[in-house]
Amino acid sequence: MKVKLTYFGHSAFHVDIDGIGIAIDPWITNPLSKTTLDEYVNNFKTDLIVITHAHEDHIGDSEEIMKRTGAKFFAIHEIYVDLTKKGFQGIGANIGGPAKLDDIAKGLAIALTPATHSSYDKGVPTGAIIFKDEIPILYHAGDTGLFAEMQFIGQLYAPKIALLPIGGHYTMDIEQALLAVKMIKPKIAIPMHYNTFPPIRADPYEFKKKVEELGLAESRVLEPGETVEFNF
Ligand code: NI
Ligand code: MN
Repeated sequence: MKVKLTYFGHSAFHVDIDGIGIAIDPWITNPLSKTTLDEYVNNFKTDLIVITHAHEDHIGDSEEIMKRTGAKFFAIHEIYVDLTKKGFQGIGANIGGPAKLDDIAKGLAIALTPATHSSYDKGVPTGAIIFKDEIPILYHAGDTGLFAEMQFIGQLYAPKIALLPIGGHYTMDIEQALLAVKMIKPKIAIPMHYNTFPPIRADPYEFKKKVEELGLAESRVLEPGETVEFNF
């Protein structure tokens, strides 16, 4: 299975899994981004947008991308209701077992996970695990503090890639994220949600070094605009 992962800074990613294009928390126009919205919509095929929670830095450019590409969204029920009222098309779900999304792409499924954070009055904040052909490919933790149930993600799925916030202040910091990696047991741990604003300053290379020194996983630091490819 061929997985191409592109980072845009903050918590914004695009993942291509065997040709299925999924944007996650696509704030493409964040202060760290090297990619304009035009470049994004012209160069990436977006079949689905996963929105982890209702904060502006995560809904990001979702509405504009949907308007311009016809992509659908996937989010917790209350965000689903809200965006549906605005005329957008998507799929609502809630925390639990994977929702099968064969209508979007055959073999695609997504499980929403808990996240300890806030989300205005739009349900609860989530993380998301993306599966293809029942293989847990990628876990995007959303914005979250450390929580003990992360161990269930490890026990049940041990996703190949984990995208974890490390910036502190609003989410886990590096020390907490290390414990998260230990519980989640990914093959590759990638830091996110750092250096966008002064309060979330953190050194992603310190995270990488510690993850690898402790033998918890491999770690990759992605620069905004960078794409990495994996074969699973
Ligand atoms: Ni947030
Ligand atoms: Mn955030």
